[in-house]
Amino acid sequence: MISNIIKSGINGEIIIPGDKSISHRSIIIPSISNGISEISNILMSDDVIHTLEAFKNLGVKILKENKKIIVFGNGLDSLSKPENNIYLGNSGTSARLLTGLLASQKFNSIIEGDKSLSSRPMKRIINPLELMGAEFDNTTGMLPLKIIGKNLKNKNITIDIPSAQIKSGLMLAAINTEGTSKIIEKNITRDHTENMLKSFGAEIDIKKKGSESIISISGKKELKSNDLNVPSDLSSSAFFIVAALINKGSKISLKNININPTRTGILQALKKMGANIEIKNKRNLSGEYVADFEVEYTELSGCELDSNIANLMIDEYPILSIAAAFANSPSLFKGLGELKVKESNRLELIKLNLINCGCDCEVLNDDLLIKPPKTFHLSNQKIRTDFDHRIAMSFAVMGSRIGNLLIEDAVSINTSFPNFAEIYNKAGGNFL
Ligand code: S3P
Repeated sequence: MISNIIKSGINGEIIIPGDKSISHRSIIIPSISNGISEISNILMSDDVIHTLEAFKNLGVKILKENKKIIVFGNGLDSLSKPENNIYLGNSGTSARLLTGLLASQKFNSIIEGDKSLSSRPMKRIINPLELMGAEFDNTTGMLPLKIIGKNLKNKNITIDIPSAQIKSGLMLAAINTEGTSKIIEKNITRDHTENMLKSFGAEIDIKKKGSESIISISGKKELKSNDLNVPSDLSSSAFFIVAALINKGSKISLKNININPTRTGILQALKKMGANIEIKNKRNLSGEYVADFEVEYTELSGCELDSNIANLMIDEYPILSIAAAFANSPSLFKGLGELKVKESNRLELIKLNLINCGCDCEVLNDDLLIKPPKTFHLSNQKIRTDFDHRIAMSFAVMGSRIGNLLIEDAVSINTSFPNFAEIYNKAGGNFL
């Protein structure tokens, strides 16, 4: 697809689909609870559909009705051996969370994924699960992964890598394991699993000491069904927020956006750059905080971000880098090592594509330095995405200012935001 310059900015009310992380959990947790759960505003993107199909394959009845799904849960011990291998496409969240849940089942299963997912590290979830007695038949540390289901032992496990996927995989193993398991998380990461499990009646106690959390889970306690309304996705909003900030004449409003404090690093970062973002009507929705935003074009300044903010906005660095490319001074983003093992090596692709657009950019160990140019000179029309949805959408936004960018393999956008182009073009964008 080609992204071109836009003339009158991005304007109007932008309807953002449901949050991807919460949507995955809105299928997984109701599927192992007791009773019927109705889930509204669920994101129907490729990644979430893979989680949904996985649970159907595990014997759960799930009905789809427009933006709503109805999950008929039959309790913690109700999943059945899948007839086929469980295919998870591009979805790292499904892979890590399901590995934990399936390791504690009474049957064996095999999970597999697409080329990108099959090259992403699984040892990070396999190793801590093995401490609980989990068994895997796998030599590569990557998918496909054969999971030998068995009763696990409760343990105290410390997670050093900042990853909500690892934490959540372990929590889903613990919920199906006799006794109390403790998960010690060294760094704050998104806490949607904790919030949702609590709202389904799980016995969870969380103690916080600085950036460390100790999560104690009493296993084998049945969960009760619950209806959920999925908040709109802050990560998806970020593409529109930045598009509005960098294009003169823009003014947008966004409603019902998730502002869970473990996710709001992007708002802190953009505010630090001087962004004109008003956040109002804060309220609670299904155990998560949401708010409405108004965003207007702003001349941004560069900023320096420390590594401790990275866990609060790990998915937003590609689009933040686009904002930084149009700022009036350089930016330095520190501690981005985890970006190398996402849907692509995002650190490398941000650098390579920004340089291709004429923006000076360096990766210094795990830090990213962006020096905005006075004028942009495109070397090659092609933007390499390696099928990474967030790289594709970020450079579609870049195209709104420099024009004529051919976003390769833009079909990957379906991973998280199937109607991105439609919504963007309706608001004034030019991405066809
Ligand atoms: C996610 C956690 C993050 C994030 C991913 C979604 C989740 O991954 O990058 O897009 O839903 O738990 P890590 O936890 O591996 O950093």
